[in-house]
Order: sequence, then C-alpha cells, then structure tokens
Amino acid sequence: MSMEDPAPAALRGRVAVTGGSGGIGTEICRALEERGWRTYALDRVPGDGAGEFIECDLLDGASVERAVASVYAELDTPVFLVTAAGIVEDDVAAEELDIELVDRVMGVNFRGVFLANQAFGRELIARGGGAIVNIASMSGNHVVNSPQRQCIYNASKAAVTALTKSLAVEWGPRGVRVNALSPGYIDTPLNGLKARMHAEWNAGTVLGRMGTPLEAAHAVEFLLSERSGYFVGAELLMDGGFSLR
Ligand SMILES: NC(=O)c1ccc[n+]([C@@H]2O[C@H](COP(=O)([O-])OP(=O)(O)OC[C@H]3O[C@@H](n4cnc5c(N)ncnc54)[C@H](O)[C@@H]3O)[C@@H](O)[C@H]2O)c1
Repeated sequence: MSMEDPAPAALRGRVAVTGGSGGIGTEICRALEERGWRTYALDRVPGDGAGEFIECDLLDGASVERAVASVYAELDTPVFLVTAAGIVEDDVAAEELDIELVDRVMGVNFRGVFLANQAFGRELIARGGGAIVNIASMSGNHVVNSPQRQCIYNASKAAVTALTKSLAVEWGPRGVRVNALSPGYIDTPLNGLKARMHAEWNAGTVLGRMGTPLEAAHAVEFLLSERSGYFVGAELLMDGGFSLR
C-alpha cells in the first residue's frame, strides 16, 4: 500500500456534509466521493448532485434529527460529520444591527453547528467513534475582515472553534475526534457578490490568490481520516498567509 493511498476505498466511510449544496460543501462531497467515501449533502436546497441530497434546515432541530434518522435508515455503520453550512448576512454597522439578523446568523453558524454536532456526535459515540470537522473561518480567531462589517459572523466562527475544543475534550475519550478547519478567502458563491473585493483579497495573501474549494476539501479529508489521528480540538488554518500580512 502506498503512502498516497493508505486504505482501500471500501474501508472509507460515510459522511454527512451540512451546507452540502454550497460552494465548499459541494466540493467536499465530490472530492470525498471520488476517494471512496459515501456522502450525504444536508442542505435546505438541492445542489448539483454531489452526494445524496437530504433536506435539512439547521435552524430546525427536528429537521436535523430527521436527517440523522435518514442516513441511518439503511445502514448502521457510523456517519462522520462535516459542518460546512454558513451564512454571512450581517454587512451592517454593529450599532445598527437588527437583533433578528443577529439571531439568524448565530442560528445557522453556531446553534445549527451545535445541533448537528450533538445529533451526529451522539450516534458516533453509540457506534464506537468517528470524526467531525467543523468549518470555522480565519475571521473567528485570526483577522477582522474589512471593509465589510460582519461582527456577528466573526463571533459565530470564534464560537465554532471554542465549541470544537470543548466537544473534542468531552468526546475524544469516547472515540470521536472533533477538529475545525478555518479557511481564508475561498472562491465560492458566498463570496460571489463581493467580486469587486477579489483583487484586494488576492493581494492580501502571501500566495496572491484566493483558495479553492478543492483545497478545503483536501484539508477536510485529512481531518476526517486516521492520518490526522493525533489532532484533537485543533483549528487548522488555511488562508494562503492572509493573516500573516
Ligand atoms: N467562501 C469563503 O471564503 C469562506 C471562508 C471562510 C469560511 N467559510 C465557511 O465555509 C462554509 C461554506 O461556505 P461556502 O463558501 O461554501 O458558502 P455557500 O453560501 O456557497 O454555501 C453555504 C450553504 O449553506 C446552506 N445553508 C444556509 N443556511 C442553511 C440552513 N439553515 N440549513 C441548512 N443549510 C443551510 C446554503 O443553502 C448553502 O448551500 C461556511 O460555513 C462559511 O462560513 C467560507
């Protein structure tokens, strides 16, 4: 067996990806499927067909529970989790932010991440373990984006890394490794509306470019696999050096 391919495809497992219809989530599903994983794209809306679509609204706990039941309906083998759903809607001055917007952003980016971790983590613990990867952001602990004003988004991502560490400590001894991936600017629809900013973002990195969804997918696969077996509660920062400048 080569270093490139440490396990036969049949041994790779099943994984649910929230936000599986989004820019990064779709690529995670596609890339993992290609490497022998079976993936479930959990999202409010169907995507381009990478992974098996399961309708799931992270603002609704019952919907998350239905998604869990659905992935375990046919097979009892553990289903790993990647939380890639997220929204950025708070480009508003902090002193003018509407509290409903605060609740919505925190509702998807933090409460929804917790609900998914809780529901899928419970099943992993019951089946002897697995791995969870939460997609946070460099905006959580490393930079404050500007000129866009997104204090709640940033706070929600810091909360995701704090949650990741706490769950890692609670669940690690029971076989569930929980880690976070913090991307910098990745070229996806989430950033599409801000195309005018791309030149500035490119220049802000060491590499002179945004990251690709595939690069994020590769990092996710590493954190899901046994190759990252000693990573527990870690935050892997992949930002092309943006936070160094
Ligand atoms: N694109 C970037 O530059 C970047 C950088 C750092 C972190 N991230 C994070 O990566 C993750 C994926 O970002 P992306 O660029 O793919 O965004 P995206 O907008 O392309 O995809 C997000 C997906 O989340 C889904 N979603 C939104 N609300 C939902 C809900 N209530 N229930 C279920 N699904 C819901 C959307 O339908 C969409 O398919 C997000 O958490 C984002 O914060 C992105």
